[in-house]
Amino acid sequence: MSLTFRPLHPVFAAESTGIDLTRALCPDDVAAIEAGMDQYAVLVFPGQPLTDEQQIDFTRQLGELEGYNTPGHIRKRTDSRLGSGIADFSNLDKSGAIMSGQDRVWFFKLGDRLWHSDSSFRPVPAKYSLLSGRVIPSWGANTEFADMRAAYDALDDRTKAEIEDLVCEHSLMFSREAIGFTDLTPEERVAFRPVRQRLVRTHPVTGRKSLFLSAHAGAIEGWTIPEARMFLRDLTEFATKDRFVCSHEWRVNDLVIWDNRTTMHRARRFDRNEVRDVRRTTLAGDVATIEQVT
Ligand code: SIN
Repeated sequence: MSLTFRPLHPVFAAESTGIDLTRALCPDDVAAIEAGMDQYAVLVFPGQPLTDEQQIDFTRQLGELEGYNTPGHIRKRTDSRLGSGIADFSNLDKSGAIMSGQDRVWFFKLGDRLWHSDSSFRPVPAKYSLLSGRVIPSWGANTEFADMRAAYDALDDRTKAEIEDLVCEHSLMFSREAIGFTDLTPEERVAFRPVRQRLVRTHPVTGRKSLFLSAHAGAIEGWTIPEARMFLRDLTEFATKDRFVCSHEWRVNDLVIWDNRTTMHRARRFDRNEVRDVRRTTLAGDVATIEQVT
């Protein structure tokens, strides 16, 4: 059986069946997944019981793992239950116990519930994220996705012209400040210093334009902060209207891949007394948005 896509939403996202991601893929399979990603931007692969090693191997077949030259989390590598190459997005601490609601790692994690694009706070932001559902709580905990290509297409011409050349500053500090988490060490503040990102991106294969929005965006070059934040808030509100959003209800062993260049996502609420064990590998981007050829 070959890879098949079943659309999950009128403008993006598809369920992908007919492939076993625990095994090495042939070049045609890789090409078919990439073509599916270019078209749908979010692919859900149900029934993929991956070990961490298999998830890393599969990710490597699509490209390079994101290198962590700048930290993307306050959870230190040495405090993680998992080995290198895979990030722990669970609510578990190093010993495997549910982390305390007073844990600053938990406070930091709550910021993932804001609409964002992974690694937009890095000079070269991530290409794909691959999230594997290992233990899923009995209620809530969906991941929602928003199609930034469809949102861009739906903007009026005046707004498109206004944003065409805008450059934003992105930092983990901006997204965490937004939920009142400002308890960062001087070292974290240095590590999380803002990076520049274009607000409008062009997909290198399809040529489609998209909005590069994220809760990590906190300034627009040449604008006052209040004007920039209000404008980014308005754009985000527009870009996450129901018609651009698809909500993924997790089942154990789902693997979901999304394109951070063309989508935003956010985690949803769940009972933090239940385990949510989801693990993420991240595929490196290849170019800084600022160097994009338009
Ligand atoms: C993420 O923000 O990359 C993870 C989303 C989730 O935990 O649902």
